[in-house]
Amino acid sequence: MHFFLKMDYKFLCPSAFFCIICFFSAINGRPDYIYYPSRPADNGMLSYSFYDNSCPNLNMIVRWGFWAAYINDTRIAASLLRLHFHDCFVNGCDASILLDDTKDFKGEKNALPNRNSVRGFEVIESIKANVEKACPSIVSCADILVLVAREAVVTSGGPNWPIPLGRRDGITASEAAANQLPSPFEPLENITAKFVSKGLDINDMVVLSGGHTIGFAQCSTFKRRLFDYKGTGKPDPTLDASFLSNLQNFCPNIDGSNSKTTPLDSQSVCRFDNMYYKSLINNTGLLESDQALMRDSKTAALVKDYSEDPFLFSRDFAESMVKLANIGVLTGQTGQIRKKCASIN
Ligand code: HEM
Repeated sequence: MHFFLKMDYKFLCPSAFFCIICFFSAINGRPDYIYYPSRPADNGMLSYSFYDNSCPNLNMIVRWGFWAAYINDTRIAASLLRLHFHDCFVNGCDASILLDDTKDFKGEKNALPNRNSVRGFEVIESIKANVEKACPSIVSCADILVLVAREAVVTSGGPNWPIPLGRRDGITASEAAANQLPSPFEPLENITAKFVSKGLDINDMVVLSGGHTIGFAQCSTFKRRLFDYKGTGKPDPTLDASFLSNLQNFCPNIDGSNSKTTPLDSQSVCRFDNMYYKSLINNTGLLESDQALMRDSKTAALVKDYSEDPFLFSRDFAESMVKLANIGVLTGQTGQIRKKCASIN
């Protein structure tokens, strides 16, 4: 059984003229309730009160650090949500994605799905520096990543949820493992199998893909749909005709357009809402892997449900985010609390 609790979520509104539409739509949409998960949200080792005594101001430091970045760059919300996903999906939520290469390992930052794509490292490092000033060697980078991802969703108008804490940081990273992150070009069955291998299910996959309600993608990630889909010499026939023509204009068939970025959810690029699912129903999903959710009857039924019920989407997204944040966590004496997120102690 799910229930909502009214939350006193007061915050000062910074004067921001940057990306003014995003900014004010986010403020208007800021939710005032918390989704409590229907199942126990911890994994037996994590705890909601983990830093209550050792770092009581943690949430505030994270919130202000996030906001400082957000007023300059509203896209950072999307980038930080994705950073969290790419961390947890590769050997668990251990902040391994934040580690620079060393002589002992090639890290994840330069893996194909991350290079020139994943953003937000400096925001996490700056929040970590402030947290270290307040409570040295207490709070892991892994927990900061999880908290920032929630802040990003809440600030964009999405749901809020409680997060059990106490993760520790990994002491290694793997470029090879990060190269296995889901690709927009692989079949839905492969992507589903990758979610299942992490202890997530098909519902988690569909609802977490709703993270594409915010943020941007580079032309290179969907261009083959526009001109030569799977060697046919023609565009992807499932693409809506006028959406296709806009994308073809924006991403001309030359290498020079590869790194241009366009919204994943063009209806409401910085609002965390259920428009992403409506777009899939209208054949205007940007990535092949997004639109593929309409080709399987089970995932298509979930897309329809979320497109019709924003509260169902918010509730299920919150619940699946807790599951995502519990993948392969290090607790107790394992791992360490890094002093800087980019390197081990
Ligand atoms: C299901 C498999 C997934 C695939 C194949 C996928 C693929 C992608 C791709 C190709 C991009 C664009 C990257 C670029 O152009 O540089 C992207 C962006 C993004 N993804 Fe995913 N993704 C998946 C799942 C997720 C999940 C589960 C989340 C979050 C819970 C997520 C959150 C995001 C966000 C927020 C962005 C925009 C980032 C930004 O603007 O900086 N994705 N994804």
